Amino acid sequence: MPSSADSRVTGQSAPCVGVVGAGTMGTGIAQLVASHGHAVLLYDNDPSAPPRALGAIEHSLQTLAAKGRLEQGAVHTTLERIECVRELSALATADLVIEAALEDLEIKRRIFRDLSSIASATTLLATNTSSLPVSSIATVSTHPERVIGMHFFNPAPVMDLVEIVRASASSEETLMRAVTFCRGLGKTPVVCADTPGFIVNRVARHFYGEALRLLADGSCTVAEIDRIVKVSGGFRMGPFELMDLIGIDVNYAVTRSVYEQFSREPRFRPHPIQQRMVEAGTLGRKTGKGFYTYDAASRRDNP
Ligand SMILES: NC(=O)c1ccc[n+]([C@@H]2O[C@H](COP(=O)([O-])OP(=O)(O)OC[C@H]3O[C@@H](n4cnc5c(N)ncnc54)[C@H](O)[C@@H]3O)[C@@H](O)[C@H]2O)c1
Repeated sequence: MPSSADSRVTGQSAPCVGVVGAGTMGTGIAQLVASHGHAVLLYDNDPSAPPRALGAIEHSLQTLAAKGRLEQGAVHTTLERIECVRELSALATADLVIEAALEDLEIKRRIFRDLSSIASATTLLATNTSSLPVSSIATVSTHPERVIGMHFFNPAPVMDLVEIVRASASSEETLMRAVTFCRGLGKTPVVCADTPGFIVNRVARHFYGEALRLLADGSCTVAEIDRIVKVSGGFRMGPFELMDLIGIDVNYAVTRSVYEQFSREPRFRPHPIQQRMVEAGTLGRKTGKGFYTYDAASRRDNP
């Protein structure tokens, strides 16, 4: 597969990309960048996560091949580009690191602090945070000018948009490298300010929040709300299908983060339904049960 990597990221073609976190987003990002010719180093502090991610990527690529959208040879070359690593320090050779760990400011700050002593003097450090202040993550880095938000959407191989979040110390060069890298992946990068939830997740809080309030009022079922939003609103997925895809825990963490950053403005208040689902471990597709139930096959398929 030809590389569409950007030579300006490192001065070479097909820069090596480190991915931190091998959950829903890390898996999709690893697949995306590997299928565009990049070597990928995939790390997670749960050692079982990267091999599981590799299995999911193989399933996804084989599905594309079965549909005739990918040559069989490309399945193997793409998989061969992904190396599962056991230590964060293995990312020392990466030209770009994309962090996709939990939506928790302290966890992300710890990762970026550790990356400061590991990464090379030119490595671009990106966070896939959905809502957290990138500037706050960057302050722990010894090179905040090389830290930026690179917010891919789920599923990363499919969704066109990437929000490039410029932190207060991000340099112009960092911004350009991030934009050009994402264009090389065939994406549409949009530069946005470092405000809570950036653009999409700020607007989307109300998409989920109103649907949850409607459900709690008892006037409609989950399936009815999803169907009406899709049929009449033209949305590809309803709010409950989308929350299941995102992960109820992730969506809840993002809502809480936006709510806190907006000084608990009522319009962003998280809904108790989400909290109860998180406490019950019904997290959506990834656990097989959320607002809907999923069998093993449908859990791994992109919608
Ligand atoms: N799920 C979505 O739809 C979506 C979309 C866009 C952005 N995001 C953002 O991407 C990030 C990841 O979300 P996700 O849905 O993939 O979450 P997830 O729960 O599926 O995966 C998170 C992974 O991070 C790992 N992890 C936790 N602490 C770690 C550490 N210290 N070092 C390395 N790995 C660690 C966990 O073991 C887990 O495998 C979050 O910031 C989230 O807000 C999520």
